[in-house]
Amino acid sequence: MRSWGLLAAALMLGIGAAGAPAQAQTPPNFQPQAETPEAWPAGEGRDETFYMCTACHATGLITRIGQTREQWNGVIDLMVSKHGMPAPDARDREIFVNYLAAAFPLRAPAQGGGWRNPFQPTR
Ligand code: HEC
Repeated sequence: MRSWGLLAAALMLGIGAAGAPAQAQTPPNFQPQAETPEAWPAGEGRDETFYMCTACHATGLITRIGQTREQWNGVIDLMVSKHGMPAPDARDREIFVNYLAAAFPLRAPAQGGGWRNPFQPTR
């Protein structure tokens, strides 16, 4: 008699488990991708530039375009005049422009090897 009771309990547990609502589906190895300086090509001034420029927006605005040094300089002017970026002093501006022009040059960086923007066709 006692064993029937246990069996009944086991069956009820089994039914209960089978009827439990499905857990929220999260892919097992999901890691939200935080943007960090390491996502940018290595180079002098990378971290300074990264933290300055990503204070306001995601990096895609920057990494998807390639520009000359003069054009990057102009982008900084635009950020300062139009978007409220604190004007960098001459030394900081030099660091940002040097880094940006080296890391995201006008021509796709295919010649030098290294990082390629897969969304920017080689010109
Ligand atoms: C104080 C805030 C701020 C900082 C700091 C800043 N930006 Fe911006 N930036 C903006 C805003 C606001 C926009 C417009 C965003 C939009 O259109 O979605 C923008 C847009 C851009 C664009 C797209 C062109 C445009 O006018 O829409 C580029 C390129 C850009 N920023 C580059 C940079 C770079 C490079 C730096 C670092 C040197 C930088 N930004 C720092 C606020 C900032």
